[in-house]
Amino acid sequence: MPFDEKIDLIAKLKSENPANIALQCFDPAYFQTLDSDGQRRLMACLNSGIENPDSEMGCYACQPGDYDDFRPFFAKALAARHKVPKDARHENNWSLEGVGELPDGGVLDFSAIGLPALSMRVRVGRNLADFSLPGSMTRDDRVSLEARMMDPFGKLIADPGFGGAYHSLTPGSPNEIDAAAYQKLVDDHIMFKDMSNDTYLTAAGIASDWPYGRGCYVSADRGFIVWVGEEDHLRIICMEHGTILNRVFDRLKAALDMVSGIEGLEFAMSGDYGVVTSCPTNLGTAMRASVLIQLPNLTSDGTDKRAKQIAKPLGLAVRGLGGEHTPIGADGTVDISPSARFCITEAEIIAALYKGISLLKKEEDRAS
Ligand code: ARG
Repeated sequence: MPFDEKIDLIAKLKSENPANIALQCFDPAYFQTLDSDGQRRLMACLNSGIENPDSEMGCYACQPGDYDDFRPFFAKALAARHKVPKDARHENNWSLEGVGELPDGGVLDFSAIGLPALSMRVRVGRNLADFSLPGSMTRDDRVSLEARMMDPFGKLIADPGFGGAYHSLTPGSPNEIDAAAYQKLVDDHIMFKDMSNDTYLTAAGIASDWPYGRGCYVSADRGFIVWVGEEDHLRIICMEHGTILNRVFDRLKAALDMVSGIEGLEFAMSGDYGVVTSCPTNLGTAMRASVLIQLPNLTSDGTDKRAKQIAKPLGLAVRGLGGEHTPIGADGTVDISPSARFCITEAEIIAALYKGISLLKKEEDRAS
């Protein structure tokens, strides 16, 4: 479709979809100021939101420089999504020092607030600076990126603190696993699902060339995982069943420092916006810290409606057990995580999760 027709289509969709942030922030006058390459690139970012008008965010960056290069568009979209001023700047900081209202010694221990061991998970997204983002990668790019990761994964495998193996979905890869082994990893919540079923990711080009360049590194204890080729080049994940939240946070940071210290692995960063991710909802920290918690009283109607009502003002998102847009567990188990990713530090996110869980636990007890 020629761009002038696309602009008309956006105008029509804009009036019909007030919740689609990208459509609302698209300004044809700004678009006209771009050269033809800029127009093509910005339009590529919006494609998912045009093809899926029900989108909430409605766009994905396709090149590491998109947020900076198309600032007049993205600054507006980020402000709308993250409720920050248009000139907001993001600072990354993993240090808990100076973060308000921490328990004594900074130990975030769920047993101190009367909770049993919980499934705790922290993930960050990262993209390599010298590749297109997943929405604009060719099949060769996807395979080369996976190959680039073999050296860092080799270092992790050789490290007694990690060990483990890399599993690839790329046809013909020396690490290739078969369909049954892949399905087992999905069932074990280790590997990501087939992305070609996600209409947002498909329209964005992020799911293209499935399953080339897709795979995951899994540590010997299965508590440290790196996804390759999902929504971001890398999703680096640390999980543990326990009570001390700092453990997953600290392990993730240590592994991240080790991987990012390897020559030839430079992560895409924006001067003003922090860690660059495909989806603007993840920009800044690219971090999601979550715990699975049973809230039988707050979910006694079989839905997460009441839990959501209480969680939202606390800045917490409630998800089902299978991730985004999935139902809650039959025993009332839900996935709780702070919603904020941008203009908040990594340390503040982890502290917010602990504090939020403490408050939610009080409400659960009160509802008994
Ligand atoms: N693109 C979808 C939307 O705009 C999903 C955005 C958030 N989810 C994600 N996995 N990035 O509604």
